[in-house]
Amino acid sequence: MSPLLVTRTLPEDATEAALRADVLHGLTRTPRTLPPKWFYDAHGSELFEKITELPEYYPTRAEREILRVRAGEIAGATGARTVVELGSGSSEKTRHLLDALSGLHTYVPVDVSESALTRAGQALVAERPDLDVHALIADFTGGLTLPDTPGPRLVVFLGGTIGNLLPAERAAFLSSVRSLLAPGDALLLGTDLVKDPSVLVAAYDDAAGVTAAFNKNVLSVVNRELGADFDLDAFEHVALWDAGNEWIEMRLRSRTAQTVKIPALGLAVDFADGEELRTEISAKFRKERVREDLGAAGLELTHWWTDEEGRFALSLSVAR
Ligand SMILES: C[S@@+](CC[C@H](N)C(=O)[O-])C[C@H]1O[C@@H](n2cnc3c(N)ncnc32)[C@H](O)[C@@H]1O
Repeated sequence: MSPLLVTRTLPEDATEAALRADVLHGLTRTPRTLPPKWFYDAHGSELFEKITELPEYYPTRAEREILRVRAGEIAGATGARTVVELGSGSSEKTRHLLDALSGLHTYVPVDVSESALTRAGQALVAERPDLDVHALIADFTGGLTLPDTPGPRLVVFLGGTIGNLLPAERAAFLSSVRSLLAPGDALLLGTDLVKDPSVLVAAYDDAAGVTAAFNKNVLSVVNRELGADFDLDAFEHVALWDAGNEWIEMRLRSRTAQTVKIPALGLAVDFADGEELRTEISAKFRKERVREDLGAAGLELTHWWTDEEGRFALSLSVAR
């Protein structure tokens, strides 16, 4: 069995510097924002896995269904020998694909969550002793340097995570993915689709309150890493549908007028009663939007698959 290889592409102090910069930038502007990547410490990654099992959270089940049904077609269309998965988390659904790729040599999961990567990587090397697993602790928006592994390469981006990027970030991200693809390589992209807003909002505001705890976890991360004194009970989880932008927004609404101190930044942030902090957008897509966004980055859509209920799509594209 090959050992799990884990590479950290950024030193730990660079991660802390990035958190400081994001918190300083996001909390000193109006409206206040924090980027979603800071949800995912070990606890946040566990909470996300719980979300994927909630009755309201259909995207994981819908995407798993497509992967289960279409894995053979995806394998036939790509013949990938290396799979690079961005924001891989538990890598759980990806197994359908890894198992279908008969010539697969290396799997490269990439995530900011070291705990999720290590756990998923260790399980995979135990299950698939034939496979090289080279995990990268890295920010997929930061310009990736991938290990030198056999092609063709399939870059996989599941979970609808692309929807967490703002339109300009999404365009830059797709261009950077395009630059990773040589002729014969492909991108497999999971996108959640526009649907009845009540279904969408419920998926981000479950009855058991798991998504609320996940949302507030970003405050715990800032408390722990930057010595801040956010009181989690003084903020309320909000999920709403922005029909103009066709995205869900998750926010944290201050239940009262309060001042939060962030000693590591020498910062005191005043929140008005009812003031909201945006923590995530989750854009929902239509096929044409996906085709256009891919096209703008120099990628050509070649395949489009949805689950039976048409809730979620997987698309395959190649460099033009
Ligand atoms: C919505 S979850 C999806 C997880 C998994 N792909 C799935 O489909 O269930 C997003 C994943 O991307 C990771 N992530 C978020 N922002 C990231 C970034 N900028 N760079 C690398 N990983 C990131 C998180 O740690 C998390 O594992």
